[in-house]
Amino acid sequence: MACPVRRNDGTQDADQLGDETGMLYGEYLMLDKVLGAQRLLSEQNNKPVHDEHLFIVTHQAYELWFKQIIFELDSVRNIFSEVLEESQTLEILKRLNRIVLILKVLVDQVMILETMTPLDFMDFRNYLKPASGFQSLQFRLLENKLGLKTENRVKSNMNYAKVFGSDEEALNRIELSESQPSLALLVERWLERTPGLEVEGFNFWGKYEKAVNMLLEEQKQIALNEPNESVKRYRLNDLENRREVYESIFQPEIHQALLNRGERRFSHKALQGAILVTFYRDEPRFSQPHQILNLLMDIDSLITKWRYNHVLMVQRMIGSSQLGTGGSSGYQYLRATLSDRYKVFVDLFNLSTFLIPRSHIPKLTSDVRSKLWHR
Ligand code: HEM
Repeated sequence: MACPVRRNDGTQDADQLGDETGMLYGEYLMLDKVLGAQRLLSEQNNKPVHDEHLFIVTHQAYELWFKQIIFELDSVRNIFSEVLEESQTLEILKRLNRIVLILKVLVDQVMILETMTPLDFMDFRNYLKPASGFQSLQFRLLENKLGLKTENRVKSNMNYAKVFGSDEEALNRIELSESQPSLALLVERWLERTPGLEVEGFNFWGKYEKAVNMLLEEQKQIALNEPNESVKRYRLNDLENRREVYESIFQPEIHQALLNRGERRFSHKALQGAILVTFYRDEPRFSQPHQILNLLMDIDSLITKWRYNHVLMVQRMIGSSQLGTGGSSGYQYLRATLSDRYKVFVDLFNLSTFLIPRSHIPKLTSDVRSKLWHR
């Protein structure tokens, strides 16, 4: 934003501002509303508590940043819902990166509130009831728009929307965020279209399966040649386990069973696309998609880090056995949200399980390379 108190001649003397300067800084930013929105309940009860001001400002700062993240996320979802041009991929990268940077600030911001002691908090906590971060509409919208599914939430709180009671607008927004395509779903569809997966063309999956079998066979021969019997047994066992892990991606029924149990999220085809992008990330065509996948993992990591910092702060403030003001089991509930079920892009984290050494990655022929460029 151009600084609204700057005059055309370059001076910044606000006292000399005339009508021609247009809106003033405070007016433009509606600071009367923003800065007038800190109502200390402890003051109203004639027992002012110094730290309640920090408590309110911290929550408000979070909500403002949640708003910006949702704004960026909605725009990224819009772009993803069309067939992507390369220039749009750049825009997605820029906006996802912005979300990541905001989340980094949000993770660190917890420390500022931790300068409040539990005794200070106790002085005004009772005034808050039954208000709780559990009722943060924007946080729920953010989770849903990223792709957190109700069935993966902690069971006792599956009906998280009920805290919005008769607030029709909030309920409608929640419902919409659950029914519209989430970022995870759009990314899944995008990965399914990864060039190179076509069986009639490069047939990456067929080649990859062959390469894995060759690798396992080579390692079996090395294990069989091992002179020490216990080391040999260990290696063969390990190899058997690895073979089973690979089966889980080569056999669609096993993948489907893991999907049904919530241990995998992407369709079989999308998983293939993600592995392809990871292997060929040095090819110009896949470099930006690879960066997108990394940013998606960053988002998941940072939200988990926020959850972790928040839960530590909660334990410090109210211990591990007091109920939350929102009525949950407090610390115990929040600790359960740290599980992998809350990671929307968990499949991307687990891709490392399926990597093979560079020497075994199927080579792209020059013919395939040029086809990739001219799609
Ligand atoms: C003294 C500081 C804080 C305490 C003691 C605290 C406590 C809690 C507790 C106990 C819960 C569980 C729900 C319940 O109330 O029963 C909760 C949830 C939540 N709090 Fe806080 N909180 C604090 C600060 C914050 C801040 C600064 C934010 C920033 C927005 C925040 C956002 C949330 C959110 C979004 C949830 C829902 C999490 C989920 O369901 O996964 N809290 N908080």
